[in-house]
Amino acid sequence: MLLVTGGAGFIGSNFILSTLAATGEPIVNLDKLTYAGNVRNLDALGADPRHFFVKGDICDRALLRDLFARHRPRAIVHFAAESHVDRSIHAPGEFVQTNVVGTFSLLEEARAFRESLPDAEKGAFRFLHVSTDEVYGSLGERDPAFTEATAYAPNSPYAASKAGADHLVRAYWHTYRLPVITTNCSNNYGPYQFPEKLIPLMIHHALAGKPLPVYGDGQNVRDWLYVLDHCAALRAVLERGRPGETYNIGGDCETRNLDVVQGICALLEEMRPRGTGRYADLIQFVADRPGHDRRYAIDCAKLSGELGWAARETFDSGLKKTVLWYLANEQWVADVTSGAYRTWVDVNYAKRGAA
Ligand code: NAD
Ligand code: TYD
Repeated sequence: MLLVTGGAGFIGSNFILSTLAATGEPIVNLDKLTYAGNVRNLDALGADPRHFFVKGDICDRALLRDLFARHRPRAIVHFAAESHVDRSIHAPGEFVQTNVVGTFSLLEEARAFRESLPDAEKGAFRFLHVSTDEVYGSLGERDPAFTEATAYAPNSPYAASKAGADHLVRAYWHTYRLPVITTNCSNNYGPYQFPEKLIPLMIHHALAGKPLPVYGDGQNVRDWLYVLDHCAALRAVLERGRPGETYNIGGDCETRNLDVVQGICALLEEMRPRGTGRYADLIQFVADRPGHDRRYAIDCAKLSGELGWAARETFDSGLKKTVLWYLANEQWVADVTSGAYRTWVDVNYAKRGAA
Protein backbone atom coordinates (compact mmCIF):
# COMPACT_ATOMS: atom_id res chain seq x y z
CA MET A 1 0.00 0.00 0.00
CA LEU A 2 1.25 3.48 -0.95
CA LEU A 3 0.11 6.71 0.65
CA VAL A 4 0.10 9.38 -2.06
CA THR A 5 -0.51 13.01 -1.10
CA GLY A 6 -1.79 15.47 -3.71
CA GLY A 7 -2.94 12.63 -5.98
CA ALA A 8 -5.75 14.70 -7.49
CA GLY A 9 -3.30 17.27 -8.89
CA PHE A 10 -1.38 17.20 -12.15
CA ILE A 11 1.62 14.97 -11.41
CA GLY A 12 -0.06 13.04 -8.59
CA SER A 13 -2.96 11.91 -10.75
CA ASN A 14 -0.61 10.89 -13.56
CA PHE A 15 1.43 8.98 -10.98
CA ILE A 16 -1.61 7.13 -9.63
CA LEU A 17 -2.94 6.21 -13.08
CA SER A 18 0.43 5.04 -14.36
CA THR A 19 1.42 3.21 -11.14
CA LEU A 20 -1.83 1.27 -10.93
CA ALA A 21 -1.30 0.27 -14.55
CA ALA A 22 2.39 -0.60 -14.03
CA THR A 23 2.40 -2.37 -10.66
CA GLY A 24 -1.18 -2.63 -9.44
CA GLU A 25 -0.17 -1.71 -5.90
CA PRO A 26 -3.13 -0.22 -3.96
CA ILE A 27 -2.99 3.51 -3.20
CA VAL A 28 -4.53 5.76 -0.55
CA ASN A 29 -4.81 9.22 -2.07
CA LEU A 30 -4.96 12.12 0.40
CA ASP A 31 -5.83 15.42 -1.27
CA LYS A 32 -7.39 18.64 0.01
CA LEU A 33 -8.91 19.39 -3.38
CA THR A 34 -7.73 22.98 -3.61
CA TYR A 35 -8.40 24.80 -6.90
CA ALA A 36 -5.61 22.65 -8.41
CA GLY A 37 -7.02 19.30 -7.33
CA ASN A 38 -9.67 17.54 -9.36
CA VAL A 39 -10.87 14.01 -8.60
CA ARG A 40 -12.17 13.79 -12.15
CA ASN A 41 -8.51 13.37 -13.22
CA LEU A 42 -8.95 9.84 -11.87
CA ASP A 43 -12.24 9.10 -13.64
CA ALA A 44 -10.56 6.40 -15.73
CA LEU A 45 -10.23 4.32 -12.55
CA GLY A 46 -14.00 4.11 -12.12
CA ALA A 47 -14.71 2.29 -8.84
CA ASP A 48 -11.31 0.54 -8.83
CA PRO A 49 -10.97 -0.84 -5.26
CA ARG A 50 -7.17 -0.36 -5.44
CA HIS A 51 -7.68 3.44 -5.24
CA PHE A 52 -8.97 4.84 -1.98
CA PHE A 53 -9.58 8.62 -2.03
CA VAL A 54 -9.57 10.72 1.14
CA LYS A 55 -10.38 14.44 1.03
CA GLY A 56 -8.22 16.09 3.66
CA ASP A 57 -5.32 18.36 4.55
CA ILE A 58 -1.74 17.17 5.08
CA CYS A 59 -1.57 19.63 7.99
CA ASP A 60 -4.26 17.62 9.82
CA ARG A 61 -2.15 15.48 12.17
CA ALA A 62 -5.08 13.50 13.60
CA LEU A 63 -6.21 12.55 10.10
CA LEU A 64 -2.67 11.50 9.14
CA ARG A 65 -2.35 9.37 12.28
CA ASP A 66 -5.63 7.66 11.50
CA LEU A 67 -4.64 7.00 7.87
CA PHE A 68 -1.30 5.49 8.89
CA ALA A 69 -2.94 3.26 11.49
CA ARG A 70 -5.70 2.10 9.16
CA HIS A 71 -3.79 1.58 5.92
CA ARG A 72 -0.25 0.85 7.15
CA PRO A 73 1.48 2.10 3.97
CA ARG A 74 4.93 0.78 3.11
CA ALA A 75 5.79 4.15 1.57
CA ILE A 76 4.65 7.75 1.16
CA VAL A 77 4.90 9.58 -2.14
CA HIS A 78 4.47 13.22 -1.22
CA PHE A 79 3.23 15.50 -4.00
CA ALA A 80 0.78 17.75 -2.13
CA ALA A 81 1.85 21.36 -2.43
CA GLU A 82 0.94 24.81 -3.57
CA SER A 83 2.83 24.78 -6.87
CA HIS A 84 2.40 27.97 -8.90
CA VAL A 85 5.16 30.61 -8.69
CA ASP A 86 2.91 33.55 -9.69
CA ARG A 87 0.38 32.66 -6.99
CA SER A 88 3.22 32.45 -4.45
CA ILE A 89 4.21 36.01 -5.34
CA HIS A 90 0.63 37.18 -4.98
CA ALA A 91 -0.15 35.30 -1.72
CA PRO A 92 2.77 33.41 -0.12
CA GLY A 93 1.07 32.38 3.16
CA GLU A 94 -0.60 29.24 1.85
CA PHE A 95 2.76 28.10 0.40
CA VAL A 96 4.44 28.21 3.79
CA GLN A 97 1.47 26.46 5.39
CA THR A 98 1.11 23.55 2.97
CA ASN A 99 4.65 23.16 1.67
CA VAL A 100 6.56 23.67 4.94
CA VAL A 101 4.10 23.01 7.80
CA GLY A 102 2.29 20.29 5.81
CA THR A 103 5.54 18.47 5.01
CA PHE A 104 6.59 18.78 8.65
CA SER A 105 3.26 17.25 9.78
CA LEU A 106 3.70 14.36 7.38
CA LEU A 107 7.30 13.78 8.53
CA GLU A 108 6.28 13.73 12.18
CA GLU A 109 3.42 11.29 11.67
CA ALA A 110 5.52 9.11 9.36
CA ARG A 111 8.28 9.00 11.98
CA ALA A 112 5.83 7.97 14.73
CA PHE A 113 4.25 5.33 12.48
CA ARG A 114 7.59 3.88 11.44
CA GLU A 115 8.70 3.66 15.07
CA SER A 116 5.68 1.44 15.71
CA LEU A 117 6.68 -1.05 12.98
CA PRO A 118 8.50 -4.33 13.61
CA ASP A 119 12.23 -4.03 12.85
CA ALA A 120 11.97 -5.98 9.59
CA GLU A 121 9.49 -3.41 8.17
CA LYS A 122 11.27 -0.34 9.55
CA GLY A 123 14.12 -0.64 7.05
CA ALA A 124 11.85 -1.06 4.04
CA PHE A 125 9.72 2.01 4.81
CA ARG A 126 10.20 4.98 2.44
CA PHE A 127 9.26 8.68 2.47
CA LEU A 128 9.63 9.96 -1.08
CA HIS A 129 9.51 13.75 -1.16
CA VAL A 130 8.76 15.20 -4.60
CA SER A 131 10.54 18.52 -4.99
CA THR A 132 11.64 20.90 -7.69
CA ASP A 133 14.78 22.20 -9.41
CA GLU A 134 13.65 25.74 -8.49
CA VAL A 135 15.28 25.34 -5.06
CA TYR A 136 18.67 25.79 -6.79
CA GLY A 137 17.83 29.29 -8.08
CA SER A 138 18.75 30.65 -11.48
CA LEU A 139 21.55 29.78 -13.94
CA GLY A 140 23.42 32.07 -16.29
CA GLU A 141 23.52 31.16 -19.96
CA ARG A 142 26.82 29.29 -19.74
CA ASP A 143 26.61 27.86 -16.21
CA PRO A 144 26.74 24.09 -15.83
CA ALA A 145 23.43 22.36 -15.11
CA PHE A 146 22.23 21.80 -11.52
CA THR A 147 23.64 18.69 -9.84
CA GLU A 148 22.66 17.23 -6.48
CA ALA A 149 25.64 19.14 -5.03
CA THR A 150 24.47 22.58 -6.23
CA ALA A 151 23.86 24.95 -3.30
CA TYR A 152 20.26 25.93 -2.59
CA ALA A 153 19.40 29.52 -3.61
CA PRO A 154 15.59 29.77 -3.96
CA ASN A 155 14.28 33.03 -5.43
CA SER A 156 10.47 32.86 -5.22
CA PRO A 157 8.26 32.19 -2.19
CA TYR A 158 7.28 28.92 -3.91
CA ALA A 159 10.90 27.83 -4.31
CA ALA A 160 11.76 28.97 -0.76
CA SER A 161 8.87 26.99 0.70
CA LYS A 162 9.92 23.85 -1.22
CA ALA A 163 13.53 24.41 -0.09
CA GLY A 164 12.33 24.67 3.52
CA ALA A 165 10.51 21.36 3.13
CA ASP A 166 13.59 19.75 1.51
CA HIS A 167 15.73 20.82 4.47
CA LEU A 168 13.27 19.31 6.96
CA VAL A 169 13.21 16.06 4.98
CA ARG A 170 17.02 15.95 4.99
CA ALA A 171 17.10 16.58 8.73
CA TYR A 172 14.75 13.67 9.41
CA TRP A 173 17.27 11.34 7.77
CA HIS A 174 20.28 12.72 9.62
CA THR A 175 18.55 13.05 12.97
CA TYR A 176 16.02 10.22 13.10
CA ARG A 177 17.15 7.93 10.24
CA LEU A 178 13.67 8.15 8.70
CA PRO A 179 14.34 6.57 5.26
CA VAL A 180 13.61 9.63 3.13
CA ILE A 181 14.54 10.30 -0.49
CA THR A 182 14.09 13.69 -2.18
CA THR A 183 13.76 14.19 -5.93
CA ASN A 184 14.30 17.59 -7.56
CA CYS A 185 12.60 17.67 -10.93
CA SER A 186 12.47 20.19 -13.74
CA ASN A 187 9.29 21.61 -15.33
CA ASN A 188 6.71 18.95 -16.17
CA TYR A 189 4.08 19.07 -18.89
CA GLY A 190 1.42 16.68 -20.15
CA PRO A 191 -2.22 15.67 -19.55
CA TYR A 192 -4.20 17.09 -16.60
CA GLN A 193 -1.95 20.09 -15.99
CA PHE A 194 -3.94 23.00 -14.64
CA PRO A 195 -4.09 25.77 -17.26
CA GLU A 196 -2.34 28.36 -15.09
CA LYS A 197 1.08 26.91 -16.08
CA LEU A 198 2.80 27.95 -19.31
CA ILE A 199 2.01 25.09 -21.71
CA PRO A 200 -1.67 24.39 -20.93
CA LEU A 201 -2.37 28.11 -20.50
CA MET A 202 -1.04 28.85 -23.97
CA ILE A 203 -3.04 26.00 -25.55
CA HIS A 204 -6.19 27.11 -23.74
CA HIS A 205 -5.77 30.77 -24.70
CA ALA A 206 -4.89 29.97 -28.30
CA LEU A 207 -8.01 27.85 -28.76
CA ALA A 208 -10.11 30.63 -27.24
CA GLY A 209 -8.48 33.23 -29.54
CA LYS A 210 -7.11 35.09 -26.50
CA PRO A 211 -3.68 36.79 -26.24
CA LEU A 212 -0.71 34.49 -25.44
CA PRO A 213 1.03 36.37 -22.59
CA VAL A 214 4.82 35.87 -22.73
CA TYR A 215 6.58 37.31 -19.65
CA GLY A 216 9.50 39.69 -20.24
CA ASP A 217 11.55 38.95 -23.37
CA GLY A 218 10.47 35.29 -23.59
CA GLN A 219 14.12 34.14 -23.45
CA ASN A 220 13.89 32.39 -20.06
CA VAL A 221 14.89 28.75 -20.33
CA ARG A 222 13.20 25.73 -18.73
CA ASP A 223 14.22 22.04 -18.97
CA TRP A 224 10.92 20.34 -19.90
CA LEU A 225 10.07 16.77 -18.86
CA TYR A 226 7.00 14.81 -19.95
CA VAL A 227 5.01 13.98 -16.84
CA LEU A 228 4.90 10.20 -17.40
CA ASP A 229 8.69 10.14 -17.66
CA HIS A 230 8.79 11.88 -14.27
CA CYS A 231 6.39 9.27 -12.84
CA ALA A 232 8.58 6.42 -14.13
CA ALA A 233 11.62 8.05 -12.52
CA LEU A 234 9.75 8.32 -9.21
CA ARG A 235 8.90 4.61 -9.30
CA ALA A 236 12.57 3.78 -9.95
CA VAL A 237 13.66 5.98 -7.03
CA LEU A 238 11.02 4.49 -4.75
CA GLU A 239 12.13 0.93 -5.48
CA ARG A 240 15.87 1.29 -5.91
CA GLY A 241 16.92 4.74 -4.67
CA ARG A 242 19.16 4.98 -1.64
CA PRO A 243 17.62 6.37 1.58
CA GLY A 244 19.01 9.75 2.60
CA GLU A 245 19.94 10.61 -0.99
CA THR A 246 18.58 13.23 -3.38
CA TYR A 247 18.11 12.66 -7.12
CA ASN A 248 17.74 15.28 -9.83
CA ILE A 249 15.24 14.47 -12.60
CA GLY A 250 15.20 16.36 -15.91
CA GLY A 251 14.37 16.06 -19.55
CA ASP A 252 17.66 17.28 -21.03
CA CYS A 253 15.44 19.51 -23.08
CA GLU A 254 16.33 23.13 -22.43
CA THR A 255 13.98 25.42 -24.36
CA ARG A 256 13.27 29.17 -24.34
CA ASN A 257 9.72 30.15 -23.42
CA LEU A 258 9.11 31.93 -26.71
CA ASP A 259 10.16 28.79 -28.62
CA VAL A 260 7.75 26.72 -26.50
CA VAL A 261 4.89 29.07 -27.32
CA GLN A 262 5.78 29.15 -31.01
CA GLY A 263 5.98 25.34 -31.00
CA ILE A 264 2.47 25.13 -29.56
CA CYS A 265 1.20 27.59 -32.18
CA ALA A 266 2.77 25.53 -34.99
CA LEU A 267 1.19 22.29 -33.72
CA LEU A 268 -2.22 23.92 -33.40
CA GLU A 269 -1.85 25.36 -36.90
CA GLU A 270 -1.49 21.78 -38.17
CA MET A 271 -4.10 20.13 -35.97
CA ARG A 272 -6.78 22.82 -35.84
CA PRO A 273 -6.04 25.76 -38.15
CA ARG A 274 -7.50 29.12 -37.12
CA GLY A 275 -10.19 30.54 -39.37
CA THR A 276 -8.60 33.97 -39.60
CA GLY A 277 -4.96 34.81 -38.90
CA ARG A 278 -2.36 32.57 -37.31
CA TYR A 279 -2.06 31.45 -33.70
CA ALA A 280 1.36 33.09 -33.43
CA ASP A 281 -0.33 36.46 -34.10
CA LEU A 282 -1.83 36.14 -30.60
CA ILE A 283 1.60 36.27 -28.88
CA GLN A 284 1.85 39.31 -26.63
CA PHE A 285 4.86 40.32 -24.51
CA VAL A 286 3.70 41.35 -21.03
CA ALA A 287 5.35 42.63 -17.85
CA ASP A 288 7.91 40.21 -16.43
CA ARG A 289 7.52 38.12 -13.27
CA PRO A 290 9.34 39.75 -10.32
CA GLY A 291 12.55 37.80 -9.57
CA HIS A 292 11.99 35.69 -12.69
CA ASP A 293 14.62 32.90 -12.79
CA ARG A 294 16.45 33.09 -16.11
CA ARG A 295 17.43 29.51 -16.69
CA TYR A 296 17.01 26.04 -15.20
CA ALA A 297 18.92 23.00 -16.42
CA ILE A 298 19.21 19.60 -14.76
CA ASP A 299 22.11 17.19 -14.77
CA CYS A 300 20.47 13.82 -14.04
CA ALA A 301 23.57 11.64 -14.48
CA LYS A 302 23.20 10.32 -10.91
CA LEU A 303 19.68 9.04 -11.57
CA SER A 304 20.45 7.54 -14.96
CA GLY A 305 23.78 6.06 -13.81
CA GLU A 306 22.54 4.54 -10.53
CA LEU A 307 19.01 3.55 -11.49
CA GLY A 308 19.14 3.25 -15.27
CA TRP A 309 16.31 5.70 -15.85
CA ALA A 310 16.00 7.58 -19.16
CA ALA A 311 13.22 9.82 -20.49
CA ARG A 312 11.24 8.19 -23.28
CA GLU A 313 9.71 11.33 -24.79
CA THR A 314 11.57 14.03 -26.63
CA PHE A 315 10.16 17.54 -26.28
CA ASP A 316 8.70 17.25 -29.80
CA SER A 317 6.91 13.95 -29.16
CA GLY A 318 5.75 14.98 -25.68
CA LEU A 319 4.47 18.38 -26.79
CA LYS A 320 2.54 16.80 -29.65
CA LYS A 321 0.91 14.29 -27.27
CA THR A 322 0.08 17.10 -24.89
CA VAL A 323 -1.56 19.35 -27.50
CA LEU A 324 -3.56 16.35 -28.78
CA TRP A 325 -4.70 15.58 -25.23
CA TYR A 326 -5.92 19.15 -24.66
CA LEU A 327 -7.74 19.13 -28.00
CA ALA A 328 -9.47 15.88 -27.05
CA ASN A 329 -10.33 17.08 -23.52
CA GLU A 330 -11.83 20.53 -23.94
CA GLN A 331 -14.61 19.68 -21.48
CA TRP A 332 -11.99 18.96 -18.77
CA VAL A 333 -10.49 22.39 -19.44
CA ALA A 334 -13.93 24.03 -19.38
CA ASP A 335 -14.70 22.36 -16.03
CA VAL A 336 -11.47 23.35 -14.29
CA THR A 337 -11.42 26.90 -15.66
CA SER A 338 -14.86 27.94 -14.46
CA GLY A 339 -15.42 30.29 -11.52
CA ALA A 340 -12.35 30.85 -9.36
CA TYR A 341 -9.95 30.30 -12.27
CA ARG A 342 -11.33 33.33 -14.10
CA THR A 343 -10.76 35.52 -11.05
CA TRP A 344 -7.10 34.40 -10.92
CA VAL A 345 -6.53 35.10 -14.61
CA ASP A 346 -7.98 38.60 -14.13
CA VAL A 347 -5.72 39.27 -11.13
CA ASN A 348 -2.51 37.89 -12.68
CA TYR A 349 -2.71 39.28 -16.18
CA ALA A 350 -4.47 42.64 -15.60
CA LYS A 351 -1.48 43.87 -13.57
CA ARG A 352 0.92 42.81 -16.34
CA GLY A 353 -0.82 45.04 -18.86
CA ALA A 354 -2.13 42.11 -20.92
CA ALA A 355 -5.11 42.76 -23.19
P1 NAD B 1 -0.67 20.71 -8.56
O1 NAD B 1 -0.80 22.11 -8.06
O2 NAD B 1 -1.23 20.35 -9.89
O3 NAD B 1 -1.30 19.69 -7.50
C1 NAD B 1 -1.14 19.83 -6.13
C2 NAD B 1 -2.16 18.94 -5.44
O4 NAD B 1 -1.96 19.04 -4.02
C3 NAD B 1 -3.61 19.34 -5.73
O5 NAD B 1 -4.40 18.20 -6.02
C4 NAD B 1 -4.06 19.97 -4.41
O6 NAD B 1 -5.45 19.82 -4.17
C5 NAD B 1 -3.22 19.21 -3.40
N1 NAD B 1 -3.01 19.95 -2.14
C6 NAD B 1 -2.63 21.26 -2.03
N2 NAD B 1 -2.56 21.59 -0.72
C7 NAD B 1 -2.87 20.47 -0.02
C8 NAD B 1 -2.94 20.18 1.37
N3 NAD B 1 -2.69 21.12 2.30
N4 NAD B 1 -3.29 18.92 1.75
C9 NAD B 1 -3.56 17.96 0.81
N5 NAD B 1 -3.51 18.20 -0.51
C10 NAD B 1 -3.17 19.43 -0.92
O7 NAD B 1 0.89 20.40 -8.49
P2 NAD B 1 1.79 19.46 -9.43
O8 NAD B 1 2.25 20.26 -10.58
O9 NAD B 1 1.09 18.19 -9.64
O10 NAD B 1 3.04 19.25 -8.48
C11 NAD B 1 3.09 18.14 -7.56
C12 NAD B 1 4.39 18.21 -6.77
O11 NAD B 1 5.49 18.14 -7.68
C13 NAD B 1 4.56 19.50 -5.98
O12 NAD B 1 5.13 19.17 -4.74
C14 NAD B 1 5.52 20.33 -6.82
O13 NAD B 1 6.29 21.18 -6.01
C15 NAD B 1 6.35 19.24 -7.44
N6 NAD B 1 6.95 19.59 -8.76
C16 NAD B 1 6.15 20.06 -9.77
C17 NAD B 1 6.71 20.34 -11.01
C18 NAD B 1 5.87 20.84 -12.16
O14 NAD B 1 6.43 21.21 -13.21
N7 NAD B 1 4.55 20.83 -12.07
C19 NAD B 1 8.09 20.17 -11.22
C20 NAD B 1 8.87 19.68 -10.15
C21 NAD B 1 8.28 19.39 -8.94
P1 TYD C 1 5.38 28.13 -15.21
O1 TYD C 1 4.64 27.16 -16.06
O2 TYD C 1 4.61 29.00 -14.27
O3 TYD C 1 6.49 27.28 -14.43
P2 TYD C 1 7.75 27.81 -13.52
O4 TYD C 1 7.59 29.24 -13.23
O5 TYD C 1 7.57 26.98 -12.30
O6 TYD C 1 8.98 27.49 -14.31
O7 TYD C 1 6.23 29.07 -16.15
C1 TYD C 1 7.19 28.53 -17.06
C2 TYD C 1 7.89 29.68 -17.72
O8 TYD C 1 6.94 30.39 -18.54
C3 TYD C 1 8.42 30.71 -16.73
O9 TYD C 1 9.66 31.21 -17.23
C4 TYD C 1 7.37 31.82 -16.74
C5 TYD C 1 6.82 31.77 -18.15
N1 TYD C 1 5.38 32.14 -18.30
C6 TYD C 1 5.02 33.08 -19.27
O10 TYD C 1 5.86 33.62 -20.01
N2 TYD C 1 3.68 33.40 -19.40
C7 TYD C 1 2.73 32.84 -18.63
O11 TYD C 1 1.52 33.19 -18.77
C8 TYD C 1 3.11 31.87 -17.64
C9 TYD C 1 2.09 31.23 -16.75
C10 TYD C 1 4.46 31.55 -17.52
